[in-house]
Amino acid sequence: MRCAGDPCAIAGERGDSLSIREAVAIAHPNVALSKYWGKLEGPGNFPAVPSLSITLAGLTTRTRVRWRADLPDDRVVLDGHELRGPAAARAVALIERVRSKLGLAAKAEIESRNDFPTASGLASSASGFAALALAAAAPDGDWDAAHISDLARRASASAARSVFGGFVELDAGPVGANEEDFLPARQVAPPGHMPIVVLVCVTTEAPKAVTSTDGMRRTMAKSPYAAAWLDHAPRLHGRLRDALLSRDFEHVGELAEGSALAMHACALAAGVTYWNAGTLEALAAVRALRSSGTPAFATIDAGPHVKVLARPEDAARVREAMTAAPGVQRVIEATPGDGARLGSAAEGP
Ligand code: DP6
Repeated sequence: MRCAGDPCAIAGERGDSLSIREAVAIAHPNVALSKYWGKLEGPGNFPAVPSLSITLAGLTTRTRVRWRADLPDDRVVLDGHELRGPAAARAVALIERVRSKLGLAAKAEIESRNDFPTASGLASSASGFAALALAAAAPDGDWDAAHISDLARRASASAARSVFGGFVELDAGPVGANEEDFLPARQVAPPGHMPIVVLVCVTTEAPKAVTSTDGMRRTMAKSPYAAAWLDHAPRLHGRLRDALLSRDFEHVGELAEGSALAMHACALAAGVTYWNAGTLEALAAVRALRSSGTPAFATIDAGPHVKVLARPEDAARVREAMTAAPGVQRVIEATPGDGARLGSAAEGP
């Protein structure tokens, strides 16, 4: 396994690669600076717009995949709860793809744990499917990082980005995409490229009511601004990429906030609302920081939490202001981190 560069610590018989029975993978969520919102029509889960994210150290998913001949069906356990039916479908589809590629008969036992709220808009599907793709494909040493990323994208497009560390880009799908077209994410710049802190302001511990998949489907079907978003997003993405490569923190922040607000405005017009009162309070706190001369910028994914982008030297002040904002329950500090990696059995969930 060349994927993450780390030593492949897989328990089980060695020698015949297909006899490897168990692998642990560790991955981190990411926060998109330019947002993926909207898919190409047809199968394959291809994004309709390009996106660029930061993979976040400080929040972690740990996933173990055990291939077992004695299991009647694939089994998915997330944070100690067994997922059944539709809740497990994406994980099972990913496993099925690996099983058929490797010609395996065994069923997979998947166990995964997040150290942050699951399915609440903190990108647990990104880290979850990145870790699952890496752990599931571990028996086949031929899958490089790009192939792991393409595999993860099919389950959840943002997961393609969490396979890589630092600043990561995922193109829009190709025009007239076929299901089997290859579309991995790629690293634009390593974690140390531009000093930045992401303060995740948690505004509820509850799971979100509308998944991103449903939210973007409803947005594209119903929003009067869908065409405007699809036109605007790639141009904003290009500008953001340039600002990032020039290490222009303030321009990156302004564009990232603009991307999030445009995405949510487009969704809101279709009746898709992710914000709560704490989201608005947190946005007001970010604007107040800027008015008092501290460059801080907000971004919001498919959930009510506000992620504040700040320079490391301002992190303590921004954290204090955000902690004091009504409706902000706690603040998690993250910095650009590494991509998914295989871990030892002891690092498992
Ligand atoms: C708002 O990757 O969760 O976080 O591909 O349907 O699983 P699916 O969607 P998902 O969408 C993420 C949307 C977003 C923006 C982003 O991460 O780019």
